[in-house]
Amino acid sequence: VAKVGTGHSAEKRPDLGLSAGGGQAAGNVVLVGFMGAGKSTLGRRLAERLGRGFADADAQIEERVGESIAGFFEREGEAAFREREQEVVLELLRRPEPQVISLGGGAVESEAVREALAGHLAAYVDVDPEIAWRRASGSKRPLARDRESFMGLRERRLPLYESVAPLRIAWAEVGEGHPVVVGPGALAAAGALWPCPRGRAFLVEDELAAGLHGDALRTSLEGAVEVLGSATVAPGERSKSLAEAERMLRALAAAGVQRADTVVALGGGVTGDLAGFCAATYQRGVAWVQFPTTVVSQVDSAYGGKTGVDLPEGKNYVGAFHQPAGVFADPLMLATLPPEELSAGWAEVVKTALIAGGRLWDEVRALPALGEAVSGDLAALAQVVHGCVRTKLAVVSADERDTTGVRASLNLGHTFAHALESATGYERHRHGEAVALGLLVALRLSEHELGLDPSVREEVRELFERERLPTSFSGPPAPVLMEHTGRDKKRRGEQRNLVLLRAPGDVVSEAEVGDEALERAIEEIRVG
Ligand SMILES: NC(=O)c1ccc[n+]([C@@H]2O[C@H](COP(=O)([O-])OP(=O)(O)OC[C@H]3O[C@@H](n4cnc5c(N)ncnc54)[C@H](O)[C@@H]3O)[C@@H](O)[C@H]2O)c1
Repeated sequence: VAKVGTGHSAEKRPDLGLSAGGGQAAGNVVLVGFMGAGKSTLGRRLAERLGRGFADADAQIEERVGESIAGFFEREGEAAFREREQEVVLELLRRPEPQVISLGGGAVESEAVREALAGHLAAYVDVDPEIAWRRASGSKRPLARDRESFMGLRERRLPLYESVAPLRIAWAEVGEGHPVVVGPGALAAAGALWPCPRGRAFLVEDELAAGLHGDALRTSLEGAVEVLGSATVAPGERSKSLAEAERMLRALAAAGVQRADTVVALGGGVTGDLAGFCAATYQRGVAWVQFPTTVVSQVDSAYGGKTGVDLPEGKNYVGAFHQPAGVFADPLMLATLPPEELSAGWAEVVKTALIAGGRLWDEVRALPALGEAVSGDLAALAQVVHGCVRTKLAVVSADERDTTGVRASLNLGHTFAHALESATGYERHRHGEAVALGLLVALRLSEHELGLDPSVREEVRELFERERLPTSFSGPPAPVLMEHTGRDKKRRGEQRNLVLLRAPGDVVSEAEVGDEALERAIEEIRVG
């Protein structure tokens, strides 16, 4: 396979304030973002995980002025507050011991602060505007009294956050909790943001991703962890087998991996699921960190802790829940994906946007073709990836072990997709292609059962056509496919529960659908 380049051309790689050779941040890790984003909480957790001290700029200002920010703001006015803020922030950034620092929402309005941030690793904590408003207006914040001006201020500041911090960071509230870093340069920043004890690691790498991005990974980890050894995973679902898991586990043993060490996965969903399963079971569980390199893995499979391998009897039949200690999703790595893998991932992006609705649905509709996005507007792509990540994290944190039904919403379009894959022996359609078809079936049913506006399906069909995803299929007739929809002992003519949509963002997880309606929706997109 030809090397397509690393995707890390110098002009594209943002300046992240990393020392040469990766590894350590030259200075502090600084969290920026609007009020109500949760920067202080995230900062405290991250500092603990990185083994660094934590400083909250707002708390330091209050200490300095001897009263609450609200009180000072009220008495002295905004200009005086900004002056104090700049003074405190610049002092914090100059402290010799590198820390995690969270800044107040307006700190980046100061040019001096923005300039000073250049030598540090800044990360942007994004938040849904409505959530930010709810949090901030409930507190005594002086700039959160009027909704309209609050939203306007946020819009005005967004470009500032994005200009100082190309990376986005979120905290996954699952298991013990872990950081998720998304954005161009996330790979390079991993050493500086290493979320495990600075010990030793074993790398499990997709064969193609290793050739394309393995060196960049090693450079990033230099100084953070000692690499004990590595093993490559052959491309393809076949690698998700018990035999392959045994080979990996024995490679870990041969390299002398111990309980305190970390497994690192570089690759798509196949490598992630396999490496995670090995991490979950090796010596009853070791930590693992993911570097997803495909669209599917960056927007979906790297989050939520489902790991496992397939049996001849079924996909993902053996596995474990094992949350990673951190995820670094770098869209620069997507630039080396072949077009058909980009397309396959697009189906999952559209699925996630339909589940989320609102801002993510708008962003996905506005995104240029994926091929253009990966080689051009990385900021917009990173924002979409991050939106998908936040959606998935919100769902899995509400239903970590897939027991309450909340997580089932992620199966939008998947009943038909699995049936088609199973009926055609997993050979004819890529998973993403099957998901695209499944989504069209689910949307058709949603119109019928829940009154979904037909323009949504029309738009989704256009989004698929643009990415050369199928919008019809030739294959087994509906009754044959129905045999593969996991009907168990249900008889023909009975109702079944499917995930459907009332509108983007309004998912009905257990919509009752009759077999005949499902058959009709399938036949509509079947062409002979
Ligand atoms: N754990 C979960 O929650 C979850 C969720 C969804 C899917 N999955 C699993 O994910 C798997 C599918 O994952 P996938 O779609 O990422 O496929 P994949 O891992 O098979 O990767 C697709 C192809 O892309 C190549 N590749 C990977 N990164 C590359 C890069 N940067 N440049 C060039 N080529 C690259 C790989 O070698 C492979 O040929 C399935 O096994 C599915 O069951 C798991």
